[in-house]
Amino acid sequence: MNGKFISIEGIEGAGKSTQLAFIERYLKENGKQLVVTREPGGTELGEQIRTLLLTPTKTSMAVDTELLLMFAARSEHVAQVIKPALENGNWVLSDRFTDATFAYQGGGRGIDRQRIADIADWTLHGLQPDLTLLFDVPVEVGQQRVLSRNQGVDRFEQEKVEFFQRIRDCYLQRAQQEPERIKIIDASQSIAQIEAQLTLILKPLL
Ligand code: TMP
Repeated sequence: MNGKFISIEGIEGAGKSTQLAFIERYLKENGKQLVVTREPGGTELGEQIRTLLLTPTKTSMAVDTELLLMFAARSEHVAQVIKPALENGNWVLSDRFTDATFAYQGGGRGIDRQRIADIADWTLHGLQPDLTLLFDVPVEVGQQRVLSRNQGVDRFEQEKVEFFQRIRDCYLQRAQQEPERIKIIDASQSIAQIEAQLTLILKPLL
């Protein structure tokens, strides 16, 4: 495998989408063949699973169902999109990957981390990003950005502040445990400052 696999992570309202466009432009300008994708989703079936996961429902979804649907979408994504792209020497930029499951289903929903690690081992066979960019903002800042978008909220965005606080804590803890792979970007800085920080991180990979 020659291509590099980059994932981006963060709580809602951390500004991932804006920065994803910058990273995509930067890598393409530097001559990389890049596949841009997202989770849950990235394949026809995965996008259908995404709709199941994000659409608010009258009855609640069992946390294990949520976990398994995330990995079902991911298995499809890895098999259909990520692996073939890397094997062809392309780069892959994914808006979220398995760190999101540890943060949301582990930190947020309280599922035992070892169970998540076991499913990850079973379904991904050790595949993980070469680099993960964690866009970090205080939960209140993220929530304000989500509300100011003036769109409807999805099933996750309906959750309370404490849910997102646990997710943020879990992301930061993972970044501390794997500082080589997971780089924290202070996403409350200006866009120019964030872009400068991203360039510093990405340049050595080119
Ligand atoms: P996004 O497009 O805003 O990133 O929305 C995806 C939502 O799905 C977001 O609330 C995070 C959530 N999610 C999980 O809970 N676990 C996961 O493994 C992934 C990939 C996403």
